[in-house]
This record gives sequence, C-alpha cells and structure tokens, in this order.
Amino acid sequence: MQLQSLFPSTALNYYKTPSNTLLSSLLLLLLTANLFPNLAEARVTKVNTIETFYNNARNERNYTFVKYFTNWCSHCKRLEPIYKDLSDNYKVSTGNITLFDIPLNLEEIGETSIDNKININFLEVDCEQFGRFEICSRLEGFPYLEVIKPLKKEEQTLPQEEEKPLGFWKKLLSVFFILDDNLLNFVDRTVEFDGNRDLQSLTKFLDNIILHDYNLNLIDRIIASECEPNGDAICHRAAEYHRNISDLDTEEIMLENSLLVTKDSNDLAALPELKFKLLLIQAMKKKKEQQQQQQQNAKSMEYDEL
Ligand SMILES: *[C@@H]1O[C@H](CO)[C@@H](O)[C@H](O)[C@H]1NC(C)=O
Ligand SMILES: *[C@@H]1O[C@H](CO)[C@@H](O)[C@H](O)[C@H]1NC(C)=O
Ligand SMILES: *[C@@H]1O[C@H](CO)[C@@H](O)[C@H](O)[C@H]1NC(C)=O
Repeated sequence: MQLQSLFPSTALNYYKTPSNTLLSSLLLLLLTANLFPNLAEARVTKVNTIETFYNNARNERNYTFVKYFTNWCSHCKRLEPIYKDLSDNYKVSTGNITLFDIPLNLEEIGETSIDNKININFLEVDCEQFGRFEICSRLEGFPYLEVIKPLKKEEQTLPQEEEKPLGFWKKLLSVFFILDDNLLNFVDRTVEFDGNRDLQSLTKFLDNIILHDYNLNLIDRIIASECEPNGDAICHRAAEYHRNISDLDTEEIMLENSLLVTKDSNDLAALPELKFKLLLIQAMKKKKEQQQQQQQNAKSMEYDEL
C-alpha cells in the first residue's frame, strides 16, 4: 500500500522527513490494522460450499477440527461458545511431558507443517444445509465433532483410482442420498470425539491426537534409522532403546506391567514414555510378521518353480 494515495501532499511531506520514519511506519501499521479489523477474529470457518469442506479435508499440513451441527439441536447451541473458545485459544500443550528424560516440545515439531508449527483449521458444518451430502448423512446425531488428520506424504503421491461403476447398494442409496466418492479420502483419517463437550476435554483430545501422531512419526523414523545426525535428542535416545530390545515379547510384558503400576500409583509422569515404548513394540512386531510372511511367500515361490 502506498502512503501517497492516502494523504494529501502536505501531510505526506511531513511524514516523509527522515526523523519521522518511525512515526510513519507506526501510522501505516495502525491504518492496516483498521482496514482489516476482523483479521484476528473468526477462527471458525463456516462451511458454505462442499468444496470448502473438501479443500480442508485434503489438507496436507494442518489438522482440521469439524463441528457438525443443526440449528434445532440444543446441545449444539450449548457447544457453540465452547467451540469458539477452543478455536480462539487452542495451542498444543504437552505440559511437562518428557520422553527418555528429555522435555518434549510439540509446539515446534509440526512435521507436516510448512512453518514447523502444528496448526488446526476449525470448521463448522450446518447439516441442515448439507444434510443430503454424505458428509452429514453418515452421522447419527448432532452435534458431532471429529478431527481430520492431515494427508501424509505417501498418501499424496498415490495414483488416482480408476472410476468404478456404482455397486448395487450404492446405486440404490444414491436415490436417497448424494453419495460422494471424495468421502473415502478423508473418513480413514478421522477421529471422533466422544467425551464431555467442555473446553478441557476438547483440549485434551486434540493434545492426545497430536502426541499420538508424534509417536507414530518417531517410530517410523527409528525403524528406518532416520534420526537427524545432530539435534533431536529424543530420536537418538529412542533409537538407543530400540537397539537395546532383545526380546519383543518379554519387553512387552514388562511394559504392560509397568503401565498397570504407573496407573495405580497416580504418578503419571512416566505414562507418555511407556505408551510410546508399547507402540514401538507393536510396530516392531507387525514389521516382523510382515517379513516372515514375505519370506514364506518367497519360499513357496521357490517350490513352485521346482
Ligand atoms: C509442570 O511441572 C510444574 C513443576 O513441577 C508444575 O507446577 C505444573 O503444574 C506442571 N504442569 C503440568 C501441566 O503438569
Ligand atoms: C494452516 O494454518 C495456518 C495457521 O492457522 C494458516 O495460516 C494456513 O493457511 C493453513 N493452511 C492450510 C493449507 O489450510
Ligand atoms: C540401553 O542399554 C544400556 C546398557 O544396558 C543402558 O545403559 C541404556 O540406558 C539403555 N538405553 C535406553 C534408551 O534404554
């Protein structure tokens, strides 16, 4: 924006004197702020077209939190200010979480995010408006809250599926509902919220989803030996733990026992690390099974050739 177009020439000359550069930038700042008074508000995006919804659902970086509502439901009305509060104030918080004695700062590790921050887009969908679309017709009651996780890199590169003819049931159903094949692309990535609809529970729900994704991402990196050489101390310590495990079953039983003891003792500080370790063991077991399966397949192919 040019100051010139906003001020008569005399005023402009005044503001242009070098000693007043600070003042003029201040003025510009004030002007800009006044031109966009709503910039800081409206964190909740009201979905007006189905495209808006899918553009968010296909997000590659941000999480999307969706509130589905109708105007006639009283619980929806009660939820409205809470949801707004959440969208205004939510900031991922890992409290005092430590993994391998290292504090975890989730705020700075938005793996999928361009600015290395974890961002959440908050949407609301009026299901009276979209009632006939599958985004709403698949839901049984309102309000309904769910998180759609961002698309992962490998999902983005999947080739487009060929168009398939509609199956019998789909054909029949499509008489009543608008079936949307896009739906399949996001339902797999949704997590339904079914706790108390208060600010604290909703905040915790988001925190847990983000922490769980962090764990899964860390596990992928460890199994692929992809800790960055410098930095990310948690990754290196976790990789060390991974190397230390000698027997998966024994380690799993040990962890499960520790989990029980920890839960009983109310000393919850150890919980995140135990949960991470158990997830890691499960992932290692799964990988081992897959390898065994592949070996068996390879063997039977050898015999086929005899
Ligand atoms: C984190 O630890 C401090 C000091 O140990 C404590 O005062 C605070 O309540 C803890 N916060 C959370 C979210 O647990
Ligand atoms: C992700 O969130 C940030 C911060 O709210 C926002 O500026 C950005 O436009 C969002 N990106 C997408 C693709 O939605
Ligand atoms: C791995 O094993 C060594 C030797 O027993 C131990 O000192 C170390 O703390 C273990 N590391 C982790 C991350 O469990």
